[in-house]
Amino acid sequence: MSIEWNDDLNTGVKEIDAQHKELFSRFNLLLTSCNEGKGKEEVLRLLIFLGDYVKTHFATEEALQLSHAYPGYQEHKAQHRSFTSEVDRLTKQVSEEGATLSLVILTNKTMVKWLLEHISRSDMDFAEFLAKE
Ligand SMILES: [Fe+2]
Repeated sequence: MSIEWNDDLNTGVKEIDAQHKELFSRFNLLLTSCNEGKGKEEVLRLLIFLGDYVKTHFATEEALQLSHAYPGYQEHKAQHRSFTSEVDRLTKQVSEEGATLSLVILTNKTMVKWLLEHISRSDMDFAEFLAKE
């Protein structure tokens, strides 16, 4: 299983789209390493890598929203916060329990849900707002 980028996910904001594509590719690396049964260290390394990238990406979006006085900023930021804490929790669990099958499945579910739902709804709302400005 992997998740594919498709053009419906384009927000039209170059920097954000480039970061989203990078997120997909980092997530797919994580998924591949889980599927190949790579050890805890490798899964953990990729999860930490992805978590760091997510934080950088969220900071970019939030700065852009603030600079455009986006009315949905607080709510959007709250979604970012909740995803960031989910990733942090997963990372902690994997580091304590190893890359167990149930954790791998939970990690996949969390990522797919967020990548597809958040991008296709919340990020798109922001993109529409920017386009109307
Ligand atoms: Fe976002």
